[in-house]
Amino acid sequence: MTNEVNVQPASGRLGILTPGLGAVATTFIAGTIAIRKGLGKPIGSYSQMGTIRLGKRTENRNPLVKDFISLANLDDCVFGGWDIYEDTVYDAAVNAGVLDRNLLDDLKEELSAIKPMPAVFDKHYVKKLDGTHVKTAATKMELAEQVMEDIKRFKQENNCARLVMVWCGSTEIYIRESEVHSSVENLENGLRENHADIPPSMIYAYAAIKMGIPYANGAPNLSCDTKALVELSKQYNTPIAGKDFKTGQTLMKTILAPGLKARALGINGWFSTNILGNRDGEVLDDPDNFKSKEVSKLGVLEQILEPEKHPDLYKDLYHKVRINYYPPHGDNKEGWDNIDIFGWLNYPMQIKIDFLCRDSILAAPIVLDLAIFLDLASRANLSGIQEWLSFYWKSPQIAEGLYPQHDIFKQFEKLKNTLRHLGGEQLITHLGLDYYE
Ligand SMILES: NC(=O)c1ccc[n+]([C@@H]2O[C@H](COP(=O)([O-])OP(=O)(O)OC[C@H]3O[C@@H](n4cnc5c(N)ncnc54)[C@H](O)[C@@H]3O)[C@@H](O)[C@H]2O)c1
Repeated sequence: MTNEVNVQPASGRLGILTPGLGAVATTFIAGTIAIRKGLGKPIGSYSQMGTIRLGKRTENRNPLVKDFISLANLDDCVFGGWDIYEDTVYDAAVNAGVLDRNLLDDLKEELSAIKPMPAVFDKHYVKKLDGTHVKTAATKMELAEQVMEDIKRFKQENNCARLVMVWCGSTEIYIRESEVHSSVENLENGLRENHADIPPSMIYAYAAIKMGIPYANGAPNLSCDTKALVELSKQYNTPIAGKDFKTGQTLMKTILAPGLKARALGINGWFSTNILGNRDGEVLDDPDNFKSKEVSKLGVLEQILEPEKHPDLYKDLYHKVRINYYPPHGDNKEGWDNIDIFGWLNYPMQIKIDFLCRDSILAAPIVLDLAIFLDLASRANLSGIQEWLSFYWKSPQIAEGLYPQHDIFKQFEKLKNTLRHLGGEQLITHLGLDYYE
C-alpha cells in the first residue's frame, strides 16, 4: 500500500527541551537514559511498547508502533531544559526522590552533565516558589528572544537535527483568555509592553512555536491554548498540543466513566480527593494555582456523560475535586474517589477507588510519547493543534467551536487511526464487513 502522507525520516538527533527540570522531567530523562542502557523497560509508553493492528483481522498484522512508522530512536534523543534552580538533573532527581538512588548513581555522569539554562520566571505566577537562576530583561519579548538564543545554542552544541519542547514546569495561576491573547499581533504587543496576562509558560511557547519547534503543554496553564498561539503555530507550520498530562485520578476517571455510561448506569456523585507531598503539591496548595488544576480536572465527566442527553442518569451529578498538600507522601500520591452510582429502578450503589500511584512514574512515559509523536507530526508537516494526541491530556486543547473528547477509548482509536493514516494504512472504523469486525 502506498504511503500517501510524506513523512520525513527520523534521521539525526532529536533534542527534547523541558522548561522545568523537576520531578516529572528528571524521571523522564533519567528513565529514558536507563532504558537505553538496558536498565529498565519503557512501561507506560505506547510509542515504545504498544502494537497497532493493521488491515483486516485475518491478516494478523500487529507490529510494534515503532516498527510500523518512523519514530525517533531513544538512542538519538538528547535532553536539555530550564529551571529556576541551578541543580543538575542528577541533583534534581535525587531531591525529587522518585527513582532509587542506586539507579541515579549508575547514571550520575550523564545526569550531572545536564545543567538547566536560566529560566523565564516571575513569582507572581507561582507564589510558592523562589528561584535565583532566572533571566532578566526589560521586556517579555526580550525574554522570549533569550529563550530562542538558548535553543539555537543547544541545537548547535548538541548537533540536533530536530527539537521538541514539553512544558514540565510548575502550574501557574489561573488566567482567562483575553484580548491580549486574541491575535499574534496583540500577543506581540503585549510581550513588548509586559502585559500581566502573559505568564512565563506563554513566553516559552511563543519562542518554540516561532522557531517551528513543536510545543506540548504539560500543565493546566493557558500557555499555548490561545487564539494567538494557535494562529502562530499555523503560520510557522508547528504542531502544538495540551494540556495537563493525564496521569492518576483523571486517568482512572476517563477509563471508568465511559464504561459506566456504556452500561447505562446512573451517577449522582463523584468526589475525588488527593494527598501528595511533592513540590507540585506545594505549588497547588495556593488557591490561585489550584484553580488552574481544578478547571482542567472538572471538565472530564460532563463531556463523557453528557447529562443533557441523559437526564435520568446524570442530571444530578455532583462532581468535586480536591488536592491536599501532605509532605510525608512525597511523589507517591494517594487519590481517593467515592462514586455514587445507581442501577435498575434507581437502587443506589457505591464504588470506592484508592489509587496509590506515583505521579512522576505515570507522567514520564507521557512526556516521552508526546515528544516522539510531536516530532512525528512535525516530520509529517502537520501544524496547529494535534487533537489526535488528546489521549495524553486531562483537558485536551481543541479547535474553536469543538468540544474535547475525554473518553480514553475514543482518544486511543483516534491516536491509532492517525498513525495508520500517517503510515499509509487504511483506517479502522469497525464498520465495514471488509474488516471482519
Ligand atoms: N506528575 C504528574 O502526574 C502530573 C500530571 C499532570 C500535570 N503535571 C504537571 O507537570 C508539572 C511538573 O510537575 P512536577 O511534579 O515535575 O513538579 P516539580 O515542582 O517537581 O517540577 C517543576 C519544576 O519547574 C520549575 N519551574 C517553575 N517555573 C518555571 C519556569 N517558569 N521556568 C522553568 N522552570 C520552572 C520548578 O523550579 C520545578 O523544578 C506541574 O505543572 C504539574 O502540575 C504533573
